[in-house]
Amino acid sequence: MKHTNALVVANWKLNPTTLAEAKNLYSEIRRKLKNYIATTVVVSPPFLYIPELSKTLKKEGVKLGAQDVYYEEIGPFTGEISASQLADFGVSYVIIGHSERRALGEMDEQVNRKIQTVLKRRLTPIVCIGEKGRDEQGGFFNHIEAQIKSLAKGLLAKDITKVVIAYEPIWAIGTGKTATVEDVKEMQLFIVSTLTKLYDRKTAEKLNILYGGSVKASIAKDLYEQGGMQGFLVGGASLNAEEFVNIVKSTIKNK
Ligand code: PGA
Repeated sequence: MKHTNALVVANWKLNPTTLAEAKNLYSEIRRKLKNYIATTVVVSPPFLYIPELSKTLKKEGVKLGAQDVYYEEIGPFTGEISASQLADFGVSYVIIGHSERRALGEMDEQVNRKIQTVLKRRLTPIVCIGEKGRDEQGGFFNHIEAQIKSLAKGLLAKDITKVVIAYEPIWAIGTGKTATVEDVKEMQLFIVSTLTKLYDRKTAEKLNILYGGSVKASIAKDLYEQGGMQGFLVGGASLNAEEFVNIVKSTIKNK
């Protein structure tokens, strides 16, 4: 269902190095956010920190996300973590198909299976899509369309509306090259029109779509207000509490 307010998700990736640092960053973000609960804020730390951070989880306020999940629930799958295990520790959002995982070999089909598992456990999947580069002919739109078709495979309208799509152009991730407001707006319209073809307009408009890729506080307000997205998936800038909270604040209307 569409968030009536914005959604901002921190992806800490493989940071920080110690639990003590993770706890500090987490409490710093929460302290600074105290008066800004209008936006839904999700912090996705490395798996190992989740149990400790979940101890202070409250109904209101910052929510916990995971950076990946396995598509099976139980059994001989060495090194994997299931959606039920994440749910047991208070995780409510799961990032799926991040380009850094796809670069390690994750395929569209696995992404689709992960989405189905996560939905079954009533967690919210945040599914990343995005092109490696852009060509003048706009061929990259075909790639985005194929990714959307694949992630939606087998999902009914009532399921797809629970999925959050994060548009993260790979050329913008960790590079400092944020997409322009025009790029973002154009892609938001394209994603909605692709989903309209697969389902119908009403369904397509219910999805939350985020932008990710070198999001910084200085440009977040313009991106949010003119880009047509519901919020952001933030990597590097989420490791600095002040910068991250300023990004969150940029999604609050009239502030
Ligand atoms: P970045 O990462 O903000 O550091 O570009 C975004 C992401 O990979 O989710």
